[in-house]
Amino acid sequence: MKDDNFLRANNAQHLWHPMGHPGEAKANAPTIIAGADGSVIKDIDGHETVDAVGGLWCVNLGYSNDVVKDAIAKQLYDLPYYSAFAGTSNPTAIEASYAVREFFEADGMGRVFFTSGGSDSVETCLRLSRQYHRIKGEPNRTKFLSLKKGYHGTHFGGASVNGNNRFRINYEPLMPGCFHMPSPYTYRNPYNETDPDVLAQNIAAAMEDEIAFQGAGSIAAFIMEPIQGAGGVIVPGQHFMKLMREICDRHGILMIADEVITGFGRSGDWSGSTHFGVQPDMMCCAKGITSGYFPVGAALMSEAVAEVFETSGEDGAIFHGYTYSAHPVGAAAVTACLAETLRLDTKTNAGLRGTQLYDGCVKLMEKYDIIGDVRGGHGLMTGLELVSDRGAKTPMDMATMKRIHAAAYDAGVMVRLGGNNILMSPPLIITEDEVNRVLTGLDAGFAAA
Ligand SMILES: Cc1ncc(COP(=O)(O)O)c(C=O)c1O
Repeated sequence: MKDDNFLRANNAQHLWHPMGHPGEAKANAPTIIAGADGSVIKDIDGHETVDAVGGLWCVNLGYSNDVVKDAIAKQLYDLPYYSAFAGTSNPTAIEASYAVREFFEADGMGRVFFTSGGSDSVETCLRLSRQYHRIKGEPNRTKFLSLKKGYHGTHFGGASVNGNNRFRINYEPLMPGCFHMPSPYTYRNPYNETDPDVLAQNIAAAMEDEIAFQGAGSIAAFIMEPIQGAGGVIVPGQHFMKLMREICDRHGILMIADEVITGFGRSGDWSGSTHFGVQPDMMCCAKGITSGYFPVGAALMSEAVAEVFETSGEDGAIFHGYTYSAHPVGAAAVTACLAETLRLDTKTNAGLRGTQLYDGCVKLMEKYDIIGDVRGGHGLMTGLELVSDRGAKTPMDMATMKRIHAAAYDAGVMVRLGGNNILMSPPLIITEDEVNRVLTGLDAGFAAA
């Protein structure tokens, strides 16, 4: 490894970073994270902070899980790679598919298609949903419905169903045939509705209207995050997802639950779908499936969807997949990660510490006028929306957001900015003391606004 001076001098000079301006990164080089332990990260200068981002909503087991590390290391020696394209398989992939299927049994998931991450999983679900209808003799069902504020990754399909324009505009035109319903976002919505249940009914009416307009027979699937993550931790009313499920059922539309963030305990339940009492037709997973230790995702299919493919003629063949689908090292990470996730019962800690973090943020809102909205309280996903004028809900400017971020970091907590939101998704093993450190760090950040 080159020395620290080399790293500082070359930081962002040759590497283009995702989700940022390359010129900006050259001028203001990113923080170099050089080490980590438990829920704490350490930068190249030795400054330690509690990682309230959990890497990127993914390091559910924290940074020090030796069971997962050892499984990865061992597999590298047993079999570092072999293709899973039709004709060959590998032992760890078989074992991992069994473990994932068991993990999501309550959600009715019967089959597992491994990918390399969340965007791949979304793409897989979107593509297979079209194929599903084609096999069933409805080839005109090609359109997709989704929610504004949703985030579904950056492939063209996922970006087309994404509901935040900053992930869309530079890459348009996107895929035709994608239509967006309002988000269950009580703080801002076209109905000025603050009651989540009434808002859910309004969105349901908009969805029915759109389906009637498009023609139900032209729609393949509806995709939604059980709790919208990157869009600002938008928690819908308790009945919203069920309502969407009923509408999909009535119109023969497949429901895809994007569980890339909410899967594996983050919501306080093993899946966001279970959290809201819904069984989807397909699920997109990634992140917590390996706790970020190896890039793996999975697209899951219900038994009913699986049966359509498995009992079909030639048109059921899946001409879709990735070189690293069912990667043996990734699969070893999955099996170990799920075993650890269950052994540590991370969902219970996510529920407890999530409530602590949410309640602490509500208290901070009493102290600071710039906090316009606090969202969360369902596991370890918390969002604070910052405004310069609480009455007018004027979004906070980016310079102030960055000042808050820097002051919080100096005070010992790493948080993530998403527009005028502060987003938090710490490891699910975070302790009570560490959550208090997060709240103290945030307090210092807001004081510096
Ligand atoms: C809900 C959701 N879907 C899909 C993705 C895309 O996942 P990836 O970045 O692994 O491609 C993300 C990433 O944050 C996500 O939050």
